[in-house]
Amino acid sequence: MPHFARHLEHHNIHNPFPGIVKLEQALGHRVVSRLGANESLPKPSSPLLALFGDALTEAARLYPDPYALALRERVALLRGVETEQVLFDAGADSLILLALRLVCNAGDAVVCSAGTYPTFRYFAEGVGSRVLEVPYQQQAAQLRPDLKRLAEVARAERAALLYLANPDNPTGHYWGADDILALRNALPARTMLLLDEAYIDFCAGEDAPPPGALPQTLRLRTLSKAYGLAGLRVGYALAEQAIIAKADQIRPQYALSGLAQLAAKTVLDDPDYAPELIAATIQLRERLADALRHRDLTVLPSHTNFVSVAYANPASSEAIQRRLLADGIAVHRPPHPAMRHLLRVTAQSQALSAKVLDALAEG
Ligand SMILES: Cc1ncc(COP(=O)(O)O)c(C=O)c1O
Repeated sequence: MPHFARHLEHHNIHNPFPGIVKLEQALGHRVVSRLGANESLPKPSSPLLALFGDALTEAARLYPDPYALALRERVALLRGVETEQVLFDAGADSLILLALRLVCNAGDAVVCSAGTYPTFRYFAEGVGSRVLEVPYQQQAAQLRPDLKRLAEVARAERAALLYLANPDNPTGHYWGADDILALRNALPARTMLLLDEAYIDFCAGEDAPPPGALPQTLRLRTLSKAYGLAGLRVGYALAEQAIIAKADQIRPQYALSGLAQLAAKTVLDDPDYAPELIAATIQLRERLADALRHRDLTVLPSHTNFVSVAYANPASSEAIQRRLLADGIAVHRPPHPAMRHLLRVTAQSQALSAKVLDALAEG
């Protein structure tokens, strides 16, 4: 039985504007004249035409399908789940907020690793959650989320939600299917597992993630990393049908724009695009990690599209980041006190320049 925030448990909310696609489904035929949505006139001289072409200009003019049915069907096929087990929104970030709104009452405990993707904490505080953090485990050069301790804290605090980025940002660590299933089993049935799989596409060839929808679990995916759409904001969630149906009731229904939907469909329909992008990224990541190790730096094993370097202390990483910034080169230093000794570098070809590599190695 899925578990939701108190005010949602026994209350169904109806979307006042379900859109044309739902209307066509209910009618069983096409709507040929859109006279009910107060959209703009088509203007043949739109200044967008030169930039976007006809299809995108028209997508920009019209309200999109709030349920992104075409995308849900496409992803259901791709991931081997039912269409009703998929939900699209404006990026994985928006889905993190949606998950929190779905299960948290103000004051509820939510659990995460101390220093993981900070947007989780940012949104959790905004909905009035109590954020409980569990330190990472250090294992040789790895920093890994402590699954046992995370589950213990979730149980002790009757947490509404546990957030795990897998692969993790900024550590790059990845837990395989058995560990994730064991974590789910160790959690109270009421605790939502928010499994942020933003980087999962870069784990190609490794221990595969568990298939399909898991109980009281929301799995997040994004088209920002392996599909090149970070600027358009497209992400989706996989979960049991009852969770998706409830999430759909509280989602800002038009957040995913028509442009984003058209672009997402185009990249998802291209069988070669993402696999090539993923292969090129993994190759760059490994070259970058090798080059950094060659300079005697401590590189955390990465299953993502970035590489994190661990320095002896926060002062060293800060000094190096400052020098790089003075040269117009931005690398990321995570804001959490437990992660201030790291620098996170995206696997891009510029990162392999001697200038960047040397600067990262300057002690
Ligand atoms: C772990 C994690 N989750 C989510 C996101 C954001 O994804 P999106 O661009 O789909 O909002 C990021 C972005 O870096 C991330 O590192």
